[in-house]
Amino acid sequence: MEVLTSNWSSVQSLPESYVFPPARRPGTDDIPPSKDIPIIDLEGIDGPGRFGIVQHIIKASQNSGLFQVINHGVSRDLTDQTMRIFQEFFALPAELKARFYSNDLNSSCRLYTSTLNYEKEATHYWRDNLTHRCHPLEDHIDHWPENPPDYRSMVGKYSIEVRKFLLTMLELIGEGMGLETGYFEGELSKTQLVSVNHHIPCPDPSLTLGMPEHCDPNLISMLQQGNVCGLQALKDGGWIGIEPLPNAFVVIPGLQLRVISNGMLTSAVHRVVTNSKESRTTIGTFLTPSNDIQIRPADGLLGSLTPMYRGYTYKEFFSRFTSNDCDAEKALGCFKL
Ligand code: OGA
Ligand code: NI
Repeated sequence: MEVLTSNWSSVQSLPESYVFPPARRPGTDDIPPSKDIPIIDLEGIDGPGRFGIVQHIIKASQNSGLFQVINHGVSRDLTDQTMRIFQEFFALPAELKARFYSNDLNSSCRLYTSTLNYEKEATHYWRDNLTHRCHPLEDHIDHWPENPPDYRSMVGKYSIEVRKFLLTMLELIGEGMGLETGYFEGELSKTQLVSVNHHIPCPDPSLTLGMPEHCDPNLISMLQQGNVCGLQALKDGGWIGIEPLPNAFVVIPGLQLRVISNGMLTSAVHRVVTNSKESRTTIGTFLTPSNDIQIRPADGLLGSLTPMYRGYTYKEFFSRFTSNDCDAEKALGCFKL
C-alpha cells in the first residue's frame, strides 16, 4: 500500500526506481497537442449525414487507429461528476483504499500501482490504477468501492451510458465495414472494464513514463481524458500529443478489431507521459470479448480475400499477449496465417 503514489504527501525528487534507461525516457521536448488527430462529430448521426460520418470513422480507424468523438450523447454533467468521483477516490486516506489493493489479475476490483508486475519489474511507471468490471451491473456493483458515498450510483450510470456509446461506435464501424447489423453485439463485446489511471505531479517527467507504449488488446477502448495533457500516440515514427478536448471521448480500436477487419483497421500505439504541475486522472472503458468466444476475420468482409489470421479465443490471445510482454506484433504473430 505504501507503494501507491496517490498516498504520498510530497515528493521532492524522482525515486531511482522510476528512472528509465536513457533509450526509454520520453525526453525533455514538450510535445504540443497535435491537430493531426481526427475529430468525429456524431451530431446528425441518425439523419442524412450518417454515411459521411461512417466513412470518416472508417478512415480515422484505418489511418490513425485513434480519434476523438464529440457530440457523443453522454451528458457533460455525468462525465464531470464521474471524473470527480474517481479523483475523490484516489484522494481518500490510505486506510480507506487499502482493501482494494491487489496485484491479482483476477481480483474483482483492484487498486495497484505501475503494473501488476510491481515486484518483478525493473522500473516502475508513475501511475496508480483502479480497475473493475461493469457489465452486467448487478453482477459486479457489490464489489465496487462505497467511498466516495455516491461511487456506485454514479459509476453505475456512467457505465451504462458509455456502454451505449461504445456499442454505437461498434455499430457504425460494422456498417462501414459492410457487416450485418449487430455484428459486434453479444459475446464479442460482453466484458466491460473501467480502468482509471491516476498520476500525481511528477518531479522529473523527462526521466519516467506514466504508461508504457502499448496497443490495447481488447475490442475497443474509450478514454475520458479530463483536462490535463499526457496521452501520446505514435504517428509516422514520432510521438504526437492527444489534446484533451472539453467533453470529447478518445476512441481506440483494439487489436481484436484489427483481426476481425482482417487488417483493414489499425490500433494506435500509445503511451502516457507525466507532468510536474497537476495530477492527471483518465477514465478508460474497455469492451472485450468473452474468454471462450472465437475471434477471426469476419466472413461478411472477406468476400474473395484471404484471411490474414486464424481463429482463436480471447483467452488464447490474452495469454499470448501477456507472455510476450504485451507486445502486440508478437502476440498477433502467433495467429497470422
Ligand atoms: C490505457 C491507456 C491512457 C491514458 O489504459 O490503456 O492507454 O491516458 N490509457 O490514461
Ligand atoms: Ni491504452
